[in-house]
Amino acid sequence: MNTVIEGLLNDQIKYEAKASMQYLAMASWADASGYNGVATFFYNQSEEERLHMTKLVKFVNERGGQVIISELEKPKAVFESLNELFETFLSSEIFVTEQINKVIFECLQNKDYNVHNFMQWYVTEQLEEEALARTLLDKLTIIGGDKSGQYLFDRDINTIAAKNTL
Ligand code: FEO
Repeated sequence: MNTVIEGLLNDQIKYEAKASMQYLAMASWADASGYNGVATFFYNQSEEERLHMTKLVKFVNERGGQVIISELEKPKAVFESLNELFETFLSSEIFVTEQINKVIFECLQNKDYNVHNFMQWYVTEQLEEEALARTLLDKLTIIGGDKSGQYLFDRDINTIAAKNTL
């Protein structure tokens, strides 16, 4: 495997792991704050990111590359509001999308169409996740500080998320 591509895939493994841990910390904050629906949503997101990470680990190994499992920084664990929680979600997804675009760019530069093909799954996944993060943040912006609105958001979030990924 091309060493530049291998390096970028290892970076991507780290970013997916980082997202998984960040969403776990967000789920835990929501759980402790009484937002049970939001907690379930982020526990699920954390699991999804873990799968994204593992899929990359397996792929690099299948291609004869060397996988590096990196150390991670402590994720942000305290949030002022649901808005801040979902702003963190959106910025994390935007960051991951940018990194995936870098991998795609290098694949084309290096004519590695195999990795390019593999990464298309991530491109589609990122489109969905970014759109979902924006939709949820838009709803929270409409709700503002209204407690009953936040209660309904927490109650309905997993239904909204399921509809957005259909
Ligand atoms: Fe796998 Fe949403 O980054």
